[in-house]
Formats: sequence, structure tokens, C-alpha cells
Amino acid sequence: MEKTGPLYAPPTSRKRVRTAQLVLVLLAASSYALTYLLWSDSRAETLPINAATIIAQCSALHLTPGPPDDFHTRTHSDRFAAGTKATLIRNASIWTGLDSGNEVVYGDVLIDKGLIKKVGSVGKAFLRSYADLVVLDAAGAWVSPGLVDLHSHLGVDSAPELRGAADTNSIKGLVLPWLRSLDGLNTHDDAYQLSISGGVTTANVLPGSADAIGGQAFVIKLRPTAERSSSAMLLEPPFSLNGTFVDPFQRPRWRQMKHACGENPSRVYSGTRMDTQWAFRQAYNTARILKDKQDAYCGKALAGQWAGLGEFPEDLQWEALVDVLRGRVKVQNHCYEAVDIDGMVRLTNEFKFPIAAFHHAHEAYMVPDLIKKAYGHPPAVAIFATSARFKREAYRGSEFAPRILADNGLDVVMKSDHPVLNSRHLIYEAQQAHYFGLAANLTLASVTSTPARIMGQDHRIGRIIEGFDADIIVWDSHPLSLGAAPTQVFIDGIAQLDKPYTSTKPKSAQRIPATPNFDKEIADAIKYEGLPPLEPETAKSDVIVFRNVGSIFLKNAATRGVSEIFTSAGADGVVVVEKGRIVCSGTQAACPTALSRSEALHLDLEGGSISPGLVSYGSPLGLAHITGEPSTSDGPVFDPLSMLVPEIIDGTVIRAADGLLFATRDALLGYRNGVTSAVTAPSSRGFLSGLSTVFGTAAAHKLAEGAVLQEVAALHVALSMSSGISVSTQVATLRGLLLGEGEGDLAKRFADVVAGKIPLVVDVESADIIASVLVLKKEVEAATGKTIRLTLAGATEAHLLAKEIGNAGVGVIIRQRPFPGSWEQKRILPGPPLTPYSAIATLVAHNVTVGIKVDGPFSVRSTRFDMAWAGLESNGVLGKAEALALASSNLEDLLGITESNSDLVATRGGSDFEGKVVAIISLRQASVDLI
Ligand SMILES: *[C@@H]1O[C@H](CO)[C@@H](O)[C@H](O)[C@H]1NC(C)=O
Ligand SMILES: *[C@@H]1O[C@H](CO)[C@@H](O)[C@H](O)[C@H]1NC(C)=O
Ligand SMILES: *[C@@H]1O[C@H](CO)[C@@H](O)[C@H](O)[C@H]1NC(C)=O
Ligand SMILES: *[C@@H]1O[C@H](CO)[C@@H](O)[C@H](O)[C@H]1NC(C)=O
Repeated sequence: MEKTGPLYAPPTSRKRVRTAQLVLVLLAASSYALTYLLWSDSRAETLPINAATIIAQCSALHLTPGPPDDFHTRTHSDRFAAGTKATLIRNASIWTGLDSGNEVVYGDVLIDKGLIKKVGSVGKAFLRSYADLVVLDAAGAWVSPGLVDLHSHLGVDSAPELRGAADTNSIKGLVLPWLRSLDGLNTHDDAYQLSISGGVTTANVLPGSADAIGGQAFVIKLRPTAERSSSAMLLEPPFSLNGTFVDPFQRPRWRQMKHACGENPSRVYSGTRMDTQWAFRQAYNTARILKDKQDAYCGKALAGQWAGLGEFPEDLQWEALVDVLRGRVKVQNHCYEAVDIDGMVRLTNEFKFPIAAFHHAHEAYMVPDLIKKAYGHPPAVAIFATSARFKREAYRGSEFAPRILADNGLDVVMKSDHPVLNSRHLIYEAQQAHYFGLAANLTLASVTSTPARIMGQDHRIGRIIEGFDADIIVWDSHPLSLGAAPTQVFIDGIAQLDKPYTSTKPKSAQRIPATPNFDKEIADAIKYEGLPPLEPETAKSDVIVFRNVGSIFLKNAATRGVSEIFTSAGADGVVVVEKGRIVCSGTQAACPTALSRSEALHLDLEGGSISPGLVSYGSPLGLAHITGEPSTSDGPVFDPLSMLVPEIIDGTVIRAADGLLFATRDALLGYRNGVTSAVTAPSSRGFLSGLSTVFGTAAAHKLAEGAVLQEVAALHVALSMSSGISVSTQVATLRGLLLGEGEGDLAKRFADVVAGKIPLVVDVESADIIASVLVLKKEVEAATGKTIRLTLAGATEAHLLAKEIGNAGVGVIIRQRPFPGSWEQKRILPGPPLTPYSAIATLVAHNVTVGIKVDGPFSVRSTRFDMAWAGLESNGVLGKAEALALASSNLEDLLGITESNSDLVATRGGSDFEGKVVAIISLRQASVDLI
């Protein structure tokens, strides 16, 4: 919970420091006098020559970490970069993080010397001494502290991913507390700038989770430094970092240590949870023995019993873990399940050390009382918003966990695990937590002041307070609204964007979203231990009257897009549906008898909308229950280009329809969020995937009505620089197949592609490979005289060839949020605030038909956010209808869907984070499902 009391916890060990200081002063004053003093006190034993050092070292063992007492009197930051001008941010709505995260100051922020100098109304008189002041007029926009990411692998798991930069995990043993993430901290990670552009200013860079104890973590500021070194990025590194003399009377600084339990260490070491837990106990026992020796030694030294005392017991490998036992390390513990949390809680009580936070912790919300039993204090819980179900540990993850944890009085932190989630969008994790019920004050705190406190840096970052580091974001909209982007980011008082980004968002975007009520869902998440029933309930009445409909969007057969056909402009919009068909819509005048139909079910949409059912493409949705568990999934196909295909199946093109699994939780969650159908291609790790299929996301099984909507949609191949076979070989293979060199089924399917009967979907990221594909298309078309329907999927670098792709009549299915994860994705068009246009907007502006791609099945449910976000960041290129088309009609076009999905989605409340899907209207099933 947010501290409301003093900002600086008083150093509890001040008294001990004074005592120790006194001893040293005496030591220094006169060695003779001191020798005499100790001599007389210690039964005439010989005083070692380094007695003073030993006494200092022993006294220092009990100091607790934290800032020096006079920290808040500093006049400039230790990270101040000379030459940085003072800046005044004028007329802002400043979320300071004070008053339990409820304080908003309307006024100015003055920053200078790397620090926040004044918050509130900064008068002319105060500014007189600032000759060279930079003024930024925020025009009322929201200002927040820089975002703090408690769990990141920035710099150690660098983008783009290269073999020369895999520095996240050492697999040299289950217990490696002596390793330091700093040693792998790449200063050239492409992601630094991207994450800064999303408002992240500080990150805790953790080693990976391959080991039980993976090593020490380090807190960095993300900005480039003059020294250009890894060390220069560190925020308050431990004084002992480079082995130089440490002032023993200075309070030590907080250290960080990664721990991991559960699946990852088990998997990496072919062990079990039992092995990992024993590794922890063995390690802590080693550390405890050393600590006890040190304490016994120091007990004697401080009592002046020098005889036979020898050297201070030390061990460079174990000193960090001993420091954990001394309560001087923030233990950041990757730990998902109740069983693992239980093991760690027992460990903390056996060895008496606190854990700073349980990370990932997908089952934490089910066991708050267990977490409170941890030694010392309850750990915070640092989680994802909706990323779940990808392995057993995550299967019971709930989007309501942040709210439930907060209701139980536990500290909630939203984190990225970058690059698992791109930390540029850390604020999106917070926004989703807010959408699903976390209070606004706690939500903003969850990515600022709370992680700052959990990492022991809340004396300088995470809030906007005079004297704190000048890490500040000016937002283009309310930070909890969808698509919020910084217009400027300051780190240590240095502006990080070349020039402030000018957003075209309307004034209403400055309003905090009024989120829906999820009380029932929250109760069910607890009741069903993360597995609440997700099957929709079909309305009993054949007639549904939707009231207070704000807008209606329908597919437009003529334009093959989506059009807004009704907007209420404040009036009571009405839509009457009978047996899944709209029989009347518009104002009440258009449906005069609607309101009096007593046999009907009346649903108030509170200004919400009715819009087309969404389509999902890009993930293995419908082919896996848990993607990380092979036994729950269809599995990968044999790739004829990279492996020996068994003769019995050689030449057969695999159909995803044959492997479909129904009622997966991701599919049902998709349905509940408006994704009523999906296109999935067979999972392949190489060149040839096979034939995709179209299926209904709510169907109970394959034989149910509306389960398989189209047996075969498109033919899918992938061309990649990471496949282990040359790109030229892959392109040559594709050429051969398109020119009729295949045999049997393969030949037949490619003949269908060449004849334009089904689209060819090419998974490809690099602009160079895209260019080769465009040339190949031309070449084949010249040879055959027919037009190929070509769709590029992934296509991170497609914007570089937007004009050529548009001219070639080729479509693109692309992620809404690009990331340079691999070299072939390096040249992303990041979009606002780094570039005025996003890749989607750029492609659309070149008349390319664009669809949205999702990667993981867990993100299918968020399609409606992806699509709306694409519209919001399009700088006016895409209206709401065009944004809807990205995840509906466009995808159908691009994937060869012959019968358009006629489902409609009714959303209650406003758009984006204000709305909640309440009904799916199905013409095909002649019914309405209630969500
Ligand atoms: C968040 O704000 C509410 C008031 O809006 C307050 O009751 C609550 O205590 C705050 N939460 C914390 C943890 O400070
Ligand atoms: C602050 O900005 C708002 C919104 O642009 C504007 O209405 C107001 O006049 C400004 N106030 C000052 C003091 O500049
Ligand atoms: C490293 O050593 C230098 C002295 O050579 C010292 O000034 C500096 O603060 C040390 N850095 C750390 C992080 O301890
Ligand atoms: C897109 O299409 C429109 C209408 O067909 C045309 O006017 C415009 O020039 C095209 N834009 C580009 C960039 O090709």
C-alpha cells in the first residue's frame, strides 16, 4: 500500500551507525590510546593490525539499505548531465502519486539539475534566475512520473535477437547468486528508445528464469548516457560493485536478486519442483552457515576477543545470498502457482528472509492469505494483465487478478517481462488492469510508485515530488485511456523525444475511461479458481430489443468494408432483432412498436454499439488449449523443406480443419469479446504450413452447427531468415511450386493458388524478402496469364514498400504493435510518438487492404482493443468503421473467406475501455447469445 507518511523511512540502524562511527573516530584519533583501550578491555590479547577495518566491517553488517540521511537535501542529481537546460512544463494535470495516488495538481513542473524543483504554480519571480529556460506548454494534458518496470530483460535479451546477445540465462547451474545481469547489459538494444517512447524511464533488469537463483538484477535508467557504458545506465548501484573501497558507515544501497520456481528451472535442468526447492534450501543453508560464522566472528571482534580470530569469513560466491539473509536484497521471485508460492513461503520462514515480489504469479490471487505468511512482510505481486494460459502455470490466470489482489491488501505491480511483452506498452498492462476493475489510483501506482518502492528506489523515482529525479511523462491523452502515448518523456531532466509529439486526439481523450462493472466475473474467477465457465448462454426470447444504441456499424457488400449506418447523437437508438436478424433499427420512430413488445428481452446498451463480429488470424487458436503443452495441442506439421517427411504422408498438404480443437478457453474468451470466428493455419516451424480453416469460436465441438465455417481458406507458407535454410532456397522452392513443379496434392493446391481460387498467404517480415515475393508474383503471373491473390502476413517491414505492395494489389496482415524482435523485423515503423504515422496507417494510405495479426491465442480476446488502437494512432487515416474493417471484412478478403461472417456484436457503454460485450447476434444460428 502506498505510504502516506514520511517520504523517507528513517534509517532504523542510525544508532548503530553512530556507535560504529564513534569506534572509528577513536581508532583514528590515536592508535596508541585505542590499543590501550582495547588491550585493557580484552584480556591482553593481541590486536590485529587491521582491527579498525574489521570493526568497521562488522558494524556495517547490520546497516539496512537506503538513501543517506541527507539525500533529500541534494541540489542536483548524481545522474545530472552537464549542459542540460532547465525545463518548465506549464499548465499540466499532474498525477503526482501522492495522497494514495489520488492527488492531481493542476499547474506546472519545473525541472533542473536532473531534479524536480517545483510542482504547482511556478511564478515569474521564482523563474528569474533561470536564464535559459525551456518551456513546454502542456495545455492541460496529463503528466505522470516516468514508468517503472519491475521486471524487464532490456539489454540482456536484446532486440533484435541475435545469437551473440543471448545473455538472459546462464545454464551453468540451478543456483548462481554470484552472476550479475549487468555483465550482459547491451548498450545497443533497439528497444531502449522504443520503451522510452512508451514512457518507461526505469527498469529492473533481471536475469532469466532458467535457474532457481539466476543472479543479481540491476536497476537502470533507459536513456543514452555520455559515457555510453552499461555501468553509466545504473541507478544507485551497490557501492561494492567494482571492488573499490566502501565507506563502511554509509548505508548500503539496495541490491536485487532473481529467483525462479516452477516450470522453467524444472524444464531447463530436466528436474522437478522438488529438485528446484532443494536447490534453494541447499543454497540458503550454505549462505546461512557463512552468515552465522560472520556473526560469530563479529561478535567476538566487537567484544575485543581477538585471540585466534583470524580472517573475516568471506566467500565471493555466496556474499550476495548472505546479504539476502541480512535483509539487504530485494528478492524478485518468478513464481506462478500456488504450489510454488507455498514452497517459497516455507523457504522464507525456514531461512528468515523477505521476498520483495512474486512475479508472474498467475495463481497469487487465489492464495492471498498464503502470501501474507511470507517472512517479514507480504511480497508484492507483479503480473501481466491478460497474458495467460500459455503453460500450465498460467492456465488459471485471471484478468481480474490485479483487482482481487488489491482487494486483499496486497501490493500490485504491472510489469512487462520485456521482451516477452514489449515494455513500450507497459502502460497498456496498467490500462487493462484498470479496465478489469483495479482502482485508478492503484493502477497508476502499479507502474510508478509501487514498483519504485518494491525495488527500494522510492526515495527518488515513481512520484512527482520536489527533490525527486526529473523522470516525467507528458501524455497525449489520459494515461489509462486506450492508445495513450507520451508527447514528451524526460529522464533525469533530459527530453528524450527530439521534439514533442503533436497528437490529433480529441479533448475527450483526456478523460479517464469509465470502466464497466465486472463484479460477477470477479466473484466467478475466485469461485471457480480461475476457470469460470465461459460458454455463452443463448437468449430464451426470440426477440431482443436493444435500447440506447449509440451507433450501428454493418458490413457493406458494395465497398467490401464496414460502414456506420446509424449514430444516435444522444437520442435513444433502437435495434430490434428477431431470430438473429435485425428487423428494424434507428430512432424510436423507426421502430414504433419495439418498446411495447413485452415478449421481447430488452437490453440497454447505454450508448454502446452494434458492430460486425470480429475475425482473428495469426495465432494457433483452435489448435491448442495450452500452447506450451504439446499434449494439449494439434502439434507441428512436417516441413518438407527442412525435414524428412514420412513417405506415408509425403506430398499431402495438411489442413488445419483436421486438427481443430473446440472450446479452448482462448477461443471462448475471444467470443465473449466479439471475436466470433477465426482463421487458423497448421502450425509449422518451416516453409510449408498448409491449408487454413475458418471456424466459429463458440462451437462446442466440430460437429456442432457453426463449428467449421469453411473447411479450406488459404494456402500458407513462410519465408524467413531465421529458418536455417537460405532465403534464396525458400524462394526458389516457392517459385518451383507456383510454376507447377510440385506433385500430387501439393501440385493441386498450388494450381488453385495460381488460378486465383484460393489466396496464398506468405508469412514474411523482411522488406527484402517481400520484394522478392512481389517479383516472383509478377514472374509467375507473366508465365501463366493469371492473377495470384497474395497476402503477406507478419510483414513488419512492409511499410518500406507500401507503394509497391499497393500497386501490386497485395494485402497485408500485420501486428498493431510492431517490435524489432528479429533482424528481419528490424526496420519497424514505430508510429506515434516516434513517427507521425503507424505502419497500418501508412499501408492503408497506399490503398493496401490491411488486416490485424495477433500472435498468441491469449491475445485474441483483445482484438477489439488492437483494432480501436490502430484507429486512434492512425493520425486520422482510419475512422471507426475502417478500424473495424481491419479485424473483420479486410481479414475475410485477405484470407479467402467466401461466406462473410454475419454475426453482430452488441457492446454496452462507450468505446474502447468503456465498453463491454453483452450479446452476440447470430443470423446463422437464428439466435442471440448473452455474455
Ligand atoms: C485508492 O484511492 C481510494 C479512494 O479513491 C482509497 O480509498 C484507497 O485507499 C486508495 N488505495 C490505496 C492503496 O491507497
Ligand atoms: C491550460 O490549458 C487549458 C486547455 O488547453 C486551457 O483551457 C487553459 O486556458 C490553460 N490555462 C493556462 C493557465 O494557460
Ligand atoms: C567504481 O570505482 C570508482 C573509483 O575508481 C568510484 O568512483 C565509483 O563510484 C565506483 N562505482 C561503483 C558503482 O561503485
Ligand atoms: C488510392 O486509391 C484512390 C482511389 O482509387 C486513389 O485516388 C489514390 O490515388 C490511391 N492512392 C495511392 C497512394 O495509390
